[in-house]
Amino acid sequence: MITAALPYANGLKHIGHLAGAYLPADIYVRYLKSQKRDVVFVCGSDEHGTAIPIQAMKEGTTAQAIIDKYHPIIEQNFKDLSIEFDIYHRTSAPIHHETAQEFFTALNNDGELEVKESEQYYDEETKTFLADRFIKGTCPNCGFDSAYGDQCEKCGKSLSPDELINPVSTLSGQKPVKKATKHWYLPLNKHEEWLREWILKEHKDDWRANVVGQCKSWIDGGLQPRAVTRDLDWGIKVPVADAEGKVLYVWFDAPIGYVSATKQWAIDNDKDWKPYWYDKDTSLVHFIGKDNIVFHAIIFPIMLKLHGNIVPSNVPSNEFMNLEGDKMSTSRGWSIEMDDYINDWIKKENGGVQFADALRYYLTQIAPETKDSEFTWKGFQDAVNSELVSIFGNFVNRTWVLMHKLTNGKVSKLHDELLDEADKKLIDDIQKSKVKIEDLLEGYNFREALFEVIDLSRKGNKYMQEKQPWIVAKQLTENPETQKQIDNCLHLCLQLTANLAILINPFLPNTAKKMLYMMKVVDKMLDWENAGKIKLLSVGYSLREPQLLFRKVEDAEIAEQLEKLKVKSQKPKVETTNTATVANQPANLKSEIVYDDFAKMDFRVGTITSAEKVEKADKLLKLQVDLGFEHRTIVSGIAMHFKPEEIVGKQVTVVANLAPRKMRGIESQGMILMAEDKSGKLHFINPEGKIDEGSAVS
Ligand code: 2FM
Ligand code: ZN
Repeated sequence: MITAALPYANGLKHIGHLAGAYLPADIYVRYLKSQKRDVVFVCGSDEHGTAIPIQAMKEGTTAQAIIDKYHPIIEQNFKDLSIEFDIYHRTSAPIHHETAQEFFTALNNDGELEVKESEQYYDEETKTFLADRFIKGTCPNCGFDSAYGDQCEKCGKSLSPDELINPVSTLSGQKPVKKATKHWYLPLNKHEEWLREWILKEHKDDWRANVVGQCKSWIDGGLQPRAVTRDLDWGIKVPVADAEGKVLYVWFDAPIGYVSATKQWAIDNDKDWKPYWYDKDTSLVHFIGKDNIVFHAIIFPIMLKLHGNIVPSNVPSNEFMNLEGDKMSTSRGWSIEMDDYINDWIKKENGGVQFADALRYYLTQIAPETKDSEFTWKGFQDAVNSELVSIFGNFVNRTWVLMHKLTNGKVSKLHDELLDEADKKLIDDIQKSKVKIEDLLEGYNFREALFEVIDLSRKGNKYMQEKQPWIVAKQLTENPETQKQIDNCLHLCLQLTANLAILINPFLPNTAKKMLYMMKVVDKMLDWENAGKIKLLSVGYSLREPQLLFRKVEDAEIAEQLEKLKVKSQKPKVETTNTATVANQPANLKSEIVYDDFAKMDFRVGTITSAEKVEKADKLLKLQVDLGFEHRTIVSGIAMHFKPEEIVGKQVTVVANLAPRKMRGIESQGMILMAEDKSGKLHFINPEGKIDEGSAVS
């Protein structure tokens, strides 16, 4: 039973989401299916929670209209990127409402929930309790000033509204008051003992370190009862008599969405859904991003156990994928939406599904499996041009071209008696690679597994280079025996190609299909059990003409994407369509400091003497600043706003006693103060008229 986190249907999803949960899950499922294992892969839209009505306010429409708009787009985007769920369901479906209510009722009737009255933040102007994203404030963990009541989007920490510093209502911009309200709680604290045993002992080695680590810090920090209901009018009604105006907490209902999706899939396919959620032999695996760990490794397992279901065998979670030197964020325009990628690469005239595979390739190659990673357009271009085209594609293409030239387009014979060391090594490499890749996939090491596949094609190129059948062919007239050497070489190259198709299939399914077409064989050849074999194509079988598997990515295409990102991130973002709200928004002041805090800072006037772009970092400029008493190198994130040549000679205010920090390998020795106006434009803070460098500002 494989699940991938249900994305909120509140907007387009970006490639960081894809890399985090959906792509690794899809690779894993394709691998399992190629082994003919009994597997169901479910996903769907998460359509409840405050994220949806908030988006509705921004777009000036209803919550229902929002989910009806984004659900089909996200579903189609996944299809276009060859993410093949068995079902892409939605949590607004009646079957899900019933399933989630039944779950709640079962836990409640069994006395596993506690009902408590407590004081919660309330917006007097809109007469609303401020759950989750209806409240914003400063994150106690990282100081980000727009953290939500359920989570800080900057550092990823899960929060409760009470932890926010300077909380404000996102509905009215007003400071909230506290008001009593009743809620149902899941007492996580009662489950500490078995969780400790289960996660920190049993799964200490087979779950990823980031998952075990996060769970450990939650458990060691002391688990608290967690409210599983909310005062909201958007969501699944709490199924008890005295719960007017209350709905299930989105994080209570969403994971149950995996169960209801399975039920719907079973109805559609005339199957029984129960073994997938009750049978002790079933492995339940949740693919998620790191901000979802606590919900899938602690809270949902408690719910599952209480409800009599199986608990997950693994929760493979990825870290975050950054983009061109900064955190990916749709709201700041610093992201590549799946939808945009599809339009720009797959649906373009010279694009096609090879670009679904190209993205799948690069995202897996840089998968943030153990630490945050970084997507750059240059990296994408290199991955396609230097690896897919020059190594994998090149091997397949050379094999095909030579076979059509030297063996009539047919699978040549293998003359066993003539097998030499190089031939035997290649056969051995094929067999070893299969075992290694299988091991890596079983352990959720997708990045390394993919590397092994490419490495095997690299070995193919090396073998071909050593054998040089095109040179051998020139000696044919003198020595007809050499045809046998050519036969052997091309026979093995073809068998290797067939193996490569099987091994690449989970990662790049469209490429595997194209290879099948060229080999004129049926899908069944891709069964995993065929990998490692060297008798996949029969002698004498004639194959189709070669087709290029991948085309090169041009510099101009990369430049276009970088420009697009720049323009998108500069566009002022509409925070809300409620203008009254904007006007009322408080200045969002940071928390109070004392004079001594301020006095510690040393601001000086300086003059920019040179400015240049930082390589591979679109947002950064490397500046030389004259402070009178010394020259400083300062790396500043202003490249999207100023051209280097226009700022040389400008005076600026520098934080001169800030500890140096390395950025992109350059030590930045200070910071330049900038003001950001309402449209997002940056302005230097400089004295009126030129003054001496080094002048103190206080
Ligand atoms: O973080 C999110 O985007 C959530 N919508 C994920 C939910 S996963 C599951 F529990 F449904
Ligand atoms: Zn934070």
